[in-house]
Amino acid sequence: MEIKKIAVIGAGAMGHGIAQLAAMSGLDTVMRDINKEFVEAGMKNIRWSIGKLIGRGKISPLDGEKALKRLSPIVSLKDAVEGADFIIEAIPEKLALKQQVFKEIDESAPSQAILATNTSALPITEIAAATKRPDKVIGMHFFNPPVLMRLVEVVMGQNTNTETRDATLSLSKKFGKEPVLCNKDVPGFIANRITISGTNLVAWMVHKGEYTIEEIDAAAMYKAGMPMGTFALLDFTGLDIAYHVMKFMEEREPFFEVSPLIKAKMESGEIGVKAGKGFYNYPEKGKFVMPQISEDKSERFDPMTQTYVMTNVAAELIRNNVATAEDIDKTLKLGFNMPIGVLELADTLGIDIMVSKLHEIAAKYGEFYKPSPLLTQMVDSNKLGTKTGEGFYSYKK
Ligand SMILES: NC(=O)c1ccc[n+]([C@@H]2O[C@H](COP(=O)([O-])OP(=O)(O)OC[C@H]3O[C@@H](n4cnc5c(N)ncnc54)[C@H](O)[C@@H]3O)[C@@H](O)[C@H]2O)c1
Repeated sequence: MEIKKIAVIGAGAMGHGIAQLAAMSGLDTVMRDINKEFVEAGMKNIRWSIGKLIGRGKISPLDGEKALKRLSPIVSLKDAVEGADFIIEAIPEKLALKQQVFKEIDESAPSQAILATNTSALPITEIAAATKRPDKVIGMHFFNPPVLMRLVEVVMGQNTNTETRDATLSLSKKFGKEPVLCNKDVPGFIANRITISGTNLVAWMVHKGEYTIEEIDAAAMYKAGMPMGTFALLDFTGLDIAYHVMKFMEEREPFFEVSPLIKAKMESGEIGVKAGKGFYNYPEKGKFVMPQISEDKSERFDPMTQTYVMTNVAAELIRNNVATAEDIDKTLKLGFNMPIGVLELADTLGIDIMVSKLHEIAAKYGEFYKPSPLLTQMVDSNKLGTKTGEGFYSYKK
């Protein structure tokens, strides 16, 4: 299908960035929010961003001007979706609100239009159920800021058809993005599901008194060379965002349980930098200062612990045909700026090591960490990674 007109619903942090991408890709774009001030604020952000791109020589002033001309701010939802071929929703992360808005969009949009949601964690299938076209509803999960981050997770709902999938993959490419396909509507999709699982385990370890927050963060920085530890990163991005995904996993996964440490922090409102306090203290609300942790704290904790868990979750995604190894590694590299994909790392460390570490973790922390049957099969067939020439990838010459 040919896509000529895009409607973006929501002009907030994500919506304005997505609308900017659409307009810069040469498509007629309307951006809708609930009142004039919010759409204007979105337009102001777009003008600022285009100005920056011109200033850095990324686009020409003429192209910037053309992109702005293709963009129309709008308040009426009905007018916004009229004649649209592809609609991208980026309104707050509340299922009932998204369902209501999808119902309204469905009633006014052309019958062939595709309806995409930028949800970070809500089930695509349940959003689609509010419409009479669940086959044309899909997840299109951009990363923040959409103009700069190259990754888009394209997420299939239970009823999404292949035409919708292909059109969304090709639109993502037209936007200059690198799409990955999440073939099933699993909680957390690919990116959050994998990373959150590792984070939750270390939060359990702190809860049980095995390690301190500083020991875990120090090991990540001084042993694994990460710019920031897990807990400092949670503070930086906001614990509420991670908690939201964790809660969904807890509700929908039989063996996943959010660490009491995370729950207690959420309940106390100490959700990180934006609250002035999280796992660490900050000088004032919104002011991030890197927590100072001494190197000697890094001795006890193995910073690969999260890698074992992330590999396990990734292996289950592959075994259940949710995603390919290549897309999983691409997701982690582009979505989280990881220098190496988790499965590339697993191949280097050895799949047999992964399996034995996971047995140890599962014995203490439960069923969720039990080695995936895919990993045990790999060990049985001597696919141990680089050392045997085959693992998630082939290293045979
Ligand atoms: N911020 C992120 O880092 C990030 C990353 C990926 C995905 N997401 C997802 O993107 C979505 C939007 O997040 P955000 O950070 O841009 O939120 P935001 O609060 O910055 O923006 C949401 C906007 O939607 C508007 N809105 C509310 N109801 C509306 C309606 N009925 N029609 C049109 N607009 C309406 C609000 O006025 C607001 O301007 C959420 O589902 C979120 O989970 C966010």
